Amino acid sequence: MYLTDEEKRMLHGDEGVVRQKCMQYLVAQCEASGAERLIDLDGTGDFHTPATAMAKSFEFSLEELKELAESGAKFKIPTFANKAPMPGPQPFHGWETCGMHPYDDPERNIKARYEEYLSLYRKMGLLATHSCALYLTASYWPSIGQHCTWTESSAVPYCNAVLGARSNLDGNFASCFLGKTAYYGNHITENRRATVLVKSERMIASDLEWDLYGFVTGELCGISVPCLTGTAKPMTTAFMRLNSAMNTGGAITMYHIPGSTPEAPTIEAAFQGHAPKDVVLIGTAELRRAYDTLNYLPAENVDFVSLGCPHYNLVDLWRLSLLLEGKTCKTCVWIMTSPWLYDIAKNQGFLKIFEDAGANLMSATCPAAMGGVPDGVKTIAVDSAKQAYYITGCYPDLENPLHVCYGSMEDCIEAALTGKWRGEWR
Ligand code: F3S
Repeated sequence: MYLTDEEKRMLHGDEGVVRQKCMQYLVAQCEASGAERLIDLDGTGDFHTPATAMAKSFEFSLEELKELAESGAKFKIPTFANKAPMPGPQPFHGWETCGMHPYDDPERNIKARYEEYLSLYRKMGLLATHSCALYLTASYWPSIGQHCTWTESSAVPYCNAVLGARSNLDGNFASCFLGKTAYYGNHITENRRATVLVKSERMIASDLEWDLYGFVTGELCGISVPCLTGTAKPMTTAFMRLNSAMNTGGAITMYHIPGSTPEAPTIEAAFQGHAPKDVVLIGTAELRRAYDTLNYLPAENVDFVSLGCPHYNLVDLWRLSLLLEGKTCKTCVWIMTSPWLYDIAKNQGFLKIFEDAGANLMSATCPAAMGGVPDGVKTIAVDSAKQAYYITGCYPDLENPLHVCYGSMEDCIEAALTGKWRGEWR
Protein backbone atom coordinates (compact mmCIF):
# COMPACT_ATOMS: atom_id res chain seq x y z
CA MET A 1 0.00 0.00 0.00
CA TYR A 2 1.00 3.61 -0.53
CA LEU A 3 2.06 5.70 2.47
CA THR A 4 3.24 9.31 2.45
CA ASP A 5 6.62 10.12 3.99
CA GLU A 6 4.92 11.52 7.06
CA GLU A 7 2.82 8.35 7.44
CA LYS A 8 5.96 6.21 7.08
CA ARG A 9 7.70 8.24 9.77
CA MET A 10 4.81 7.71 12.16
CA LEU A 11 4.70 3.99 11.36
CA HIS A 12 8.41 3.68 12.16
CA GLY A 13 7.85 5.28 15.55
CA ASP A 14 9.69 8.54 14.79
CA GLU A 15 6.79 10.54 16.25
CA GLY A 16 6.16 8.57 19.42
CA VAL A 17 4.59 5.32 20.47
CA VAL A 18 0.95 6.44 20.33
CA ARG A 19 1.17 7.75 16.76
CA GLN A 20 3.01 4.55 15.82
CA LYS A 21 0.24 2.35 17.28
CA CYS A 22 -2.37 4.46 15.52
CA MET A 23 -0.59 4.07 12.19
CA GLN A 24 -0.25 0.31 12.75
CA TYR A 25 -3.98 0.18 13.29
CA LEU A 26 -4.74 2.20 10.15
CA VAL A 27 -2.42 0.05 8.04
CA ALA A 28 -4.20 -3.06 9.38
CA GLN A 29 -7.52 -1.38 8.55
CA CYS A 30 -6.30 -0.88 4.96
CA GLU A 31 -5.22 -4.50 4.72
CA ALA A 32 -8.56 -5.76 6.04
CA SER A 33 -10.63 -3.51 3.79
CA GLY A 34 -8.49 -3.76 0.67
CA ALA A 35 -7.73 -0.02 0.72
CA GLU A 36 -4.53 0.97 -1.07
CA ARG A 37 -4.01 4.21 0.79
CA LEU A 38 -5.21 6.45 3.58
CA ILE A 39 -7.17 9.66 3.11
CA ASP A 40 -7.13 12.81 5.20
CA LEU A 41 -10.38 13.44 7.03
CA ASP A 42 -12.00 16.85 6.70
CA GLY A 43 -15.23 16.03 8.55
CA THR A 44 -15.92 14.79 12.09
CA GLY A 45 -15.46 11.62 14.13
CA ASP A 46 -16.77 9.70 17.10
CA PHE A 47 -15.71 6.63 19.00
CA HIS A 48 -16.52 4.54 22.06
CA THR A 49 -14.50 5.38 25.17
CA PRO A 50 -12.64 4.61 27.43
CA ALA A 51 -10.97 2.23 25.02
CA THR A 52 -10.18 3.54 21.60
CA ALA A 53 -12.45 1.34 19.44
CA MET A 54 -9.17 0.03 17.98
CA ALA A 55 -8.11 -3.61 17.95
CA LYS A 56 -7.00 -4.55 21.44
CA SER A 57 -3.41 -5.26 20.53
CA PHE A 58 -2.96 -1.70 19.28
CA GLU A 59 -4.30 0.10 22.35
CA PHE A 60 -2.09 1.94 24.77
CA SER A 61 -1.92 2.37 28.50
CA LEU A 62 -3.34 5.13 30.66
CA GLU A 63 0.22 6.33 31.25
CA GLU A 64 0.85 6.64 27.51
CA LEU A 65 -2.41 8.52 27.07
CA LYS A 66 -1.52 10.82 29.96
CA GLU A 67 1.83 11.65 28.48
CA LEU A 68 0.16 12.39 25.15
CA ALA A 69 -2.56 14.65 26.61
CA GLU A 70 -0.05 16.51 28.76
CA SER A 71 2.16 17.15 25.74
CA GLY A 72 -0.68 19.27 24.32
CA ALA A 73 -1.71 16.77 21.59
CA LYS A 74 -5.21 17.23 20.21
CA PHE A 75 -7.61 15.27 18.02
CA LYS A 76 -7.10 16.38 14.44
CA ILE A 77 -10.82 16.58 13.64
CA PRO A 78 -13.86 17.57 15.77
CA THR A 79 -14.37 14.38 17.79
CA PHE A 80 -17.42 13.30 19.77
CA ALA A 81 -17.90 10.60 22.40
CA ASN A 82 -20.29 7.79 21.67
CA LYS A 83 -22.38 6.41 24.57
CA ALA A 84 -21.16 6.39 28.16
CA PRO A 85 -17.85 4.52 28.56
CA MET A 86 -18.09 0.84 27.58
CA PRO A 87 -18.60 -1.95 28.46
CA GLY A 88 -21.80 -1.72 30.49
CA PRO A 89 -22.30 2.00 29.97
CA GLN A 90 -23.37 3.62 33.23
CA PRO A 91 -26.38 5.96 32.81
CA PHE A 92 -25.32 9.56 33.37
CA HIS A 93 -28.81 10.49 34.56
CA GLY A 94 -31.52 8.34 36.10
CA TRP A 95 -29.19 5.64 37.42
CA GLU A 96 -30.36 5.95 41.06
CA THR A 97 -33.95 5.04 40.17
CA CYS A 98 -33.33 2.60 37.28
CA GLY A 99 -34.06 -0.53 39.37
CA MET A 100 -31.25 -2.54 37.79
CA HIS A 101 -28.26 -3.77 39.69
CA PRO A 102 -25.36 -2.91 39.64
CA TYR A 103 -26.23 0.27 37.71
CA ASP A 104 -28.02 1.74 40.75
CA ASP A 105 -24.88 1.33 42.86
CA PRO A 106 -23.31 4.73 43.78
CA GLU A 107 -19.85 3.17 43.74
CA ARG A 108 -20.27 1.88 40.18
CA ASN A 109 -21.64 5.24 39.18
CA ILE A 110 -18.29 6.80 40.01
CA LYS A 111 -15.98 4.02 38.80
CA ALA A 112 -17.75 3.24 35.51
CA ARG A 113 -17.47 6.81 34.30
CA TYR A 114 -13.74 6.26 33.76
CA GLU A 115 -13.06 9.86 34.60
CA GLU A 116 -9.29 9.19 34.56
CA TYR A 117 -9.55 8.46 30.80
CA LEU A 118 -12.33 10.90 29.97
CA SER A 119 -10.58 13.89 31.51
CA LEU A 120 -7.54 13.17 29.30
CA TYR A 121 -9.68 12.76 26.18
CA ARG A 122 -11.45 16.04 26.97
CA LYS A 123 -8.05 17.70 27.37
CA MET A 124 -7.31 16.49 23.85
CA GLY A 125 -10.53 18.06 22.59
CA LEU A 126 -13.09 15.25 22.86
CA LEU A 127 -16.63 16.69 22.92
CA ALA A 128 -18.47 14.49 25.38
CA THR A 129 -21.86 14.08 23.70
CA HIS A 130 -22.17 10.51 25.01
CA SER A 131 -24.93 9.41 22.68
CA CYS A 132 -25.50 6.80 19.99
CA ALA A 133 -27.31 9.63 18.18
CA LEU A 134 -24.44 12.10 18.41
CA TYR A 135 -25.76 14.03 15.43
CA LEU A 136 -28.68 15.28 17.57
CA THR A 137 -26.48 17.18 19.97
CA ALA A 138 -23.17 17.59 18.17
CA SER A 139 -24.45 20.92 16.76
CA TYR A 140 -21.66 20.64 14.17
CA TRP A 141 -22.27 18.68 11.00
CA PRO A 142 -20.11 17.76 8.03
CA SER A 143 -21.53 18.58 4.62
CA ILE A 144 -21.64 16.88 1.21
CA GLY A 145 -18.46 15.01 0.32
CA GLN A 146 -16.61 15.53 3.62
CA HIS A 147 -14.82 12.46 4.94
CA CYS A 148 -15.66 11.31 8.48
CA THR A 149 -15.24 8.37 10.84
CA TRP A 150 -18.47 7.64 12.74
CA THR A 151 -20.02 4.68 14.53
CA GLU A 152 -23.55 3.48 15.37
CA SER A 153 -26.42 2.07 13.37
CA SER A 154 -28.52 5.22 13.12
CA ALA A 155 -25.58 7.61 12.87
CA VAL A 156 -23.50 6.27 9.97
CA PRO A 157 -26.42 6.31 7.48
CA TYR A 158 -27.27 9.76 8.85
CA CYS A 159 -23.79 10.90 7.89
CA ASN A 160 -23.90 9.28 4.43
CA ALA A 161 -27.48 9.40 3.24
CA VAL A 162 -28.93 12.37 5.10
CA LEU A 163 -25.95 14.74 5.18
CA GLY A 164 -24.17 13.48 2.06
CA ALA A 165 -20.89 13.28 4.00
CA ARG A 166 -18.84 10.07 3.85
CA SER A 167 -18.19 7.53 6.57
CA ASN A 168 -17.88 3.82 7.12
CA LEU A 169 -18.93 2.29 10.42
CA ASP A 170 -15.44 2.58 11.86
CA GLY A 171 -15.15 5.51 14.30
CA ASN A 172 -11.95 5.03 16.32
CA PHE A 173 -9.26 6.89 18.22
CA ALA A 174 -6.56 6.46 15.58
CA SER A 175 -8.60 8.07 12.82
CA CYS A 176 -9.80 10.94 15.02
CA PHE A 177 -6.34 11.56 16.44
CA LEU A 178 -4.40 11.41 13.17
CA GLY A 179 -7.25 12.71 10.98
CA LYS A 180 -6.85 9.77 8.59
CA THR A 181 -8.73 6.65 7.60
CA ALA A 182 -8.48 3.80 5.11
CA TYR A 183 -9.84 4.78 1.69
CA TYR A 184 -12.60 2.20 1.19
CA GLY A 185 -16.37 1.73 1.19
CA ASN A 186 -18.47 4.88 1.44
CA HIS A 187 -15.49 7.20 0.88
CA ILE A 188 -15.45 6.16 -2.79
CA THR A 189 -18.04 7.79 -5.09
CA GLU A 190 -18.97 4.67 -7.08
CA ASN A 191 -19.62 2.68 -3.90
CA ARG A 192 -22.33 5.19 -3.01
CA ARG A 193 -24.33 4.31 -6.11
CA ALA A 194 -27.70 2.65 -5.51
CA THR A 195 -27.88 -0.92 -6.81
CA VAL A 196 -31.31 -2.02 -5.54
CA LEU A 197 -34.58 -0.21 -6.29
CA VAL A 198 -36.97 -0.67 -3.37
CA LYS A 199 -40.65 -0.04 -4.07
CA SER A 200 -43.25 0.21 -1.37
CA GLU A 201 -46.83 -0.94 -1.79
CA ARG A 202 -48.14 1.45 0.83
CA MET A 203 -47.06 4.99 1.74
CA ILE A 204 -44.48 4.76 4.53
CA ALA A 205 -45.29 7.59 6.90
CA SER A 206 -45.77 6.70 10.60
CA ASP A 207 -42.82 6.08 12.92
CA LEU A 208 -43.77 2.40 13.15
CA GLU A 209 -43.93 2.08 9.35
CA TRP A 210 -40.48 3.65 8.96
CA ASP A 211 -39.13 1.25 11.57
CA LEU A 212 -40.65 -1.86 9.94
CA TYR A 213 -39.80 -0.69 6.44
CA GLY A 214 -36.19 -0.18 7.54
CA PHE A 215 -36.03 -3.65 9.10
CA VAL A 216 -37.42 -5.35 5.98
CA THR A 217 -35.20 -3.28 3.67
CA GLY A 218 -32.19 -4.40 5.72
CA GLU A 219 -33.27 -8.04 5.48
CA LEU A 220 -33.76 -7.85 1.71
CA CYS A 221 -30.81 -5.64 0.77
CA GLY A 222 -28.12 -6.84 3.21
CA ILE A 223 -25.12 -4.59 2.57
CA SER A 224 -26.28 -3.12 -0.77
CA VAL A 225 -27.11 0.56 -1.35
CA PRO A 226 -30.89 0.78 -1.78
CA CYS A 227 -32.88 3.53 -3.48
CA LEU A 228 -36.10 3.85 -1.48
CA THR A 229 -39.31 4.92 -3.19
CA GLY A 230 -42.93 5.14 -2.06
CA THR A 231 -42.26 6.91 1.20
CA ALA A 232 -43.43 10.19 2.67
CA LYS A 233 -40.82 12.93 3.21
CA PRO A 234 -38.88 11.83 6.31
CA MET A 235 -38.29 14.07 9.32
CA THR A 236 -35.57 13.40 11.89
CA THR A 237 -37.44 10.69 13.83
CA ALA A 238 -38.25 8.87 10.58
CA PHE A 239 -34.59 8.92 9.52
CA MET A 240 -33.52 7.64 12.94
CA ARG A 241 -36.04 4.79 12.84
CA LEU A 242 -35.21 3.87 9.27
CA ASN A 243 -31.44 3.95 9.81
CA SER A 244 -31.31 1.93 13.01
CA ALA A 245 -33.81 -0.65 11.70
CA MET A 246 -31.94 -1.09 8.39
CA ASN A 247 -28.83 -1.87 10.42
CA THR A 248 -30.77 -4.42 12.45
CA GLY A 249 -32.42 -6.34 9.61
CA GLY A 250 -29.22 -5.88 7.58
CA ALA A 251 -26.13 -3.68 7.48
CA ILE A 252 -26.94 -0.65 5.31
CA THR A 253 -24.72 2.38 5.77
CA MET A 254 -25.76 4.29 2.64
CA TYR A 255 -29.08 4.71 0.82
CA HIS A 256 -31.01 7.24 -1.24
CA ILE A 257 -34.53 8.62 -1.10
CA PRO A 258 -34.97 10.52 -4.36
CA GLY A 259 -36.06 14.08 -3.68
CA SER A 260 -35.12 13.87 0.03
CA THR A 261 -31.47 12.85 0.35
CA PRO A 262 -28.83 15.15 -1.14
CA GLU A 263 -27.10 12.81 -3.58
CA ALA A 264 -30.37 11.74 -5.22
CA PRO A 265 -32.46 14.56 -6.67
CA THR A 266 -33.87 11.84 -8.98
CA ILE A 267 -33.93 8.03 -9.19
CA GLU A 268 -31.46 8.22 -12.11
CA ALA A 269 -29.03 10.24 -9.97
CA ALA A 270 -29.27 7.64 -7.19
CA PHE A 271 -28.14 4.95 -9.65
CA GLN A 272 -25.48 7.24 -11.18
CA GLY A 273 -26.93 6.50 -14.64
CA HIS A 274 -26.80 2.68 -14.26
CA ALA A 275 -29.76 0.28 -14.26
CA PRO A 276 -30.79 -1.29 -10.92
CA LYS A 277 -29.27 -4.73 -10.37
CA ASP A 278 -32.35 -5.75 -8.46
CA VAL A 279 -35.88 -4.47 -7.78
CA VAL A 280 -37.71 -5.45 -4.60
CA LEU A 281 -41.28 -4.75 -3.58
CA ILE A 282 -42.13 -4.29 0.07
CA GLY A 283 -45.82 -4.79 0.71
CA THR A 284 -48.10 -4.99 3.70
CA ALA A 285 -47.38 -8.73 3.99
CA GLU A 286 -43.63 -8.11 4.43
CA LEU A 287 -44.23 -5.37 7.02
CA ARG A 288 -46.68 -7.60 8.87
CA ARG A 289 -44.16 -10.45 8.96
CA ALA A 290 -41.53 -8.13 10.43
CA TYR A 291 -44.05 -6.89 13.00
CA ASP A 292 -44.74 -10.49 14.06
CA THR A 293 -41.00 -11.26 14.22
CA LEU A 294 -40.30 -8.28 16.42
CA ASN A 295 -43.21 -9.16 18.73
CA TYR A 296 -41.19 -12.00 20.24
CA LEU A 297 -43.31 -14.23 22.51
CA PRO A 298 -45.51 -11.23 23.44
CA ALA A 299 -47.44 -11.50 26.69
CA GLU A 300 -50.48 -9.64 27.95
CA ASN A 301 -48.98 -8.39 31.22
CA VAL A 302 -46.19 -5.88 30.70
CA ASP A 303 -43.84 -4.92 33.54
CA PHE A 304 -41.24 -2.79 31.74
CA VAL A 305 -41.46 -0.19 28.97
CA SER A 306 -38.26 0.93 27.28
CA LEU A 307 -38.26 3.91 24.91
CA GLY A 308 -35.56 5.93 23.21
CA CYS A 309 -33.68 3.62 20.84
CA PRO A 310 -31.98 5.40 19.17
CA HIS A 311 -31.85 8.11 21.84
CA TYR A 312 -35.00 10.22 21.68
CA ASN A 313 -34.73 13.63 20.06
CA LEU A 314 -36.37 16.74 21.53
CA VAL A 315 -39.63 16.36 19.58
CA ASP A 316 -39.92 12.70 20.66
CA LEU A 317 -39.50 13.83 24.28
CA TRP A 318 -42.14 16.52 23.81
CA ARG A 319 -44.61 14.03 22.24
CA LEU A 320 -43.99 11.65 25.11
CA SER A 321 -44.59 14.40 27.68
CA LEU A 322 -48.02 15.02 26.11
CA LEU A 323 -48.90 11.33 26.54
CA LEU A 324 -47.70 11.17 30.15
CA GLU A 325 -48.85 14.54 31.52
CA GLY A 326 -51.04 14.04 34.58
CA LYS A 327 -50.89 10.22 34.29
CA THR A 328 -49.40 7.50 36.52
CA CYS A 329 -47.42 4.56 35.16
CA LYS A 330 -48.09 1.07 36.46
CA THR A 331 -44.89 -0.37 35.01
CA CYS A 332 -41.25 0.58 35.21
CA VAL A 333 -40.51 2.99 32.32
CA TRP A 334 -37.10 3.94 30.93
CA ILE A 335 -36.73 6.77 28.44
CA MET A 336 -33.30 7.12 26.85
CA THR A 337 -31.78 10.30 25.53
CA SER A 338 -28.43 12.07 25.39
CA PRO A 339 -27.09 13.94 28.44
CA TRP A 340 -27.38 17.30 26.64
CA LEU A 341 -31.02 16.73 25.67
CA TYR A 342 -31.70 15.59 29.23
CA ASP A 343 -30.83 19.11 30.37
CA ILE A 344 -33.09 20.66 27.74
CA ALA A 345 -35.93 18.30 28.73
CA LYS A 346 -35.43 19.48 32.29
CA ASN A 347 -35.61 23.14 31.28
CA GLN A 348 -38.71 22.49 29.16
CA GLY A 349 -40.53 20.87 32.11
CA PHE A 350 -40.67 17.43 30.46
CA LEU A 351 -38.52 15.86 33.18
CA LYS A 352 -40.99 16.92 35.88
CA ILE A 353 -43.89 15.45 33.86
CA PHE A 354 -42.01 12.16 33.48
CA GLU A 355 -41.07 12.07 37.17
CA ASP A 356 -44.62 12.84 38.28
CA ALA A 357 -45.83 9.99 36.06
CA GLY A 358 -43.24 7.61 37.55
CA ALA A 359 -41.21 7.33 34.32
CA ASN A 360 -37.41 7.41 34.48
CA LEU A 361 -35.60 9.72 32.03
CA MET A 362 -32.06 8.39 31.55
CA SER A 363 -29.11 9.45 29.47
CA ALA A 364 -26.03 8.09 27.73
CA THR A 365 -26.95 4.39 27.69
CA CYS A 366 -29.61 1.82 26.73
CA PRO A 367 -30.87 -1.58 27.95
CA ALA A 368 -29.14 -3.53 25.17
CA ALA A 369 -25.79 -1.89 25.91
CA MET A 370 -26.34 -2.37 29.65
CA GLY A 371 -26.94 -6.02 28.87
CA GLY A 372 -30.40 -6.62 30.28
CA VAL A 373 -33.54 -5.31 31.93
CA PRO A 374 -34.42 -4.27 35.51
CA ASP A 375 -34.39 -7.08 38.04
CA GLY A 376 -37.42 -9.37 37.90
CA VAL A 377 -38.78 -8.12 34.56
CA LYS A 378 -40.55 -10.76 32.45
CA THR A 379 -42.11 -8.70 29.64
CA ILE A 380 -40.71 -5.60 27.97
CA ALA A 381 -42.58 -3.26 25.60
CA VAL A 382 -40.53 -1.29 23.07
CA ASP A 383 -41.17 1.03 20.13
CA SER A 384 -37.96 0.22 18.25
CA ALA A 385 -37.08 -2.67 15.96
CA LYS A 386 -33.46 -2.42 17.03
CA GLN A 387 -34.21 -2.65 20.74
CA ALA A 388 -36.76 -5.45 20.19
CA TYR A 389 -34.16 -7.46 18.29
CA TYR A 390 -31.12 -6.77 20.47
CA ILE A 391 -32.67 -7.13 23.90
CA THR A 392 -33.61 -10.79 23.37
CA GLY A 393 -29.92 -11.53 22.78
CA CYS A 394 -28.99 -9.91 26.10
CA TYR A 395 -31.33 -12.00 28.18
CA PRO A 396 -29.40 -14.84 29.78
CA ASP A 397 -32.22 -17.12 30.95
CA LEU A 398 -32.98 -19.32 27.93
CA GLU A 399 -35.43 -21.46 29.95
CA ASN A 400 -37.55 -18.38 30.68
CA PRO A 401 -36.99 -16.08 27.73
CA LEU A 402 -37.88 -12.43 27.90
CA HIS A 403 -41.24 -11.60 26.30
CA VAL A 404 -41.03 -8.65 23.91
CA CYS A 405 -44.02 -6.54 22.85
CA TYR A 406 -43.26 -4.22 19.92
CA GLY A 407 -45.45 -1.34 18.77
CA SER A 408 -45.79 2.44 18.55
CA MET A 409 -44.87 4.96 21.26
CA GLU A 410 -48.61 5.25 21.95
CA ASP A 411 -48.98 1.44 22.32
CA CYS A 412 -46.05 1.42 24.77
CA ILE A 413 -47.47 4.25 26.87
CA GLU A 414 -50.85 2.51 26.96
CA ALA A 415 -48.98 -0.54 28.32
CA ALA A 416 -47.11 1.63 30.85
CA LEU A 417 -50.37 3.11 32.16
CA THR A 418 -52.40 -0.11 32.27
CA GLY A 419 -49.78 -2.86 32.62
CA LYS A 420 -51.45 -4.59 29.64
CA TRP A 421 -50.30 -4.94 26.04
CA ARG A 422 -53.03 -3.85 23.66
CA GLY A 423 -50.83 -3.06 20.67
CA GLU A 424 -51.94 -4.67 17.44
CA TRP A 425 -51.15 -4.60 13.75
CA ARG A 426 -52.96 -1.75 12.05
FE1 F3S B 1 -28.67 3.46 20.82
FE2 F3S B 1 -28.81 1.34 22.31
FE3 F3S B 1 -30.53 1.68 20.44
S1 F3S B 1 -26.99 2.25 21.54
S2 F3S B 1 -29.45 2.77 18.86
S3 F3S B 1 -30.28 3.01 22.24
S4 F3S B 1 -29.60 -0.27 21.00
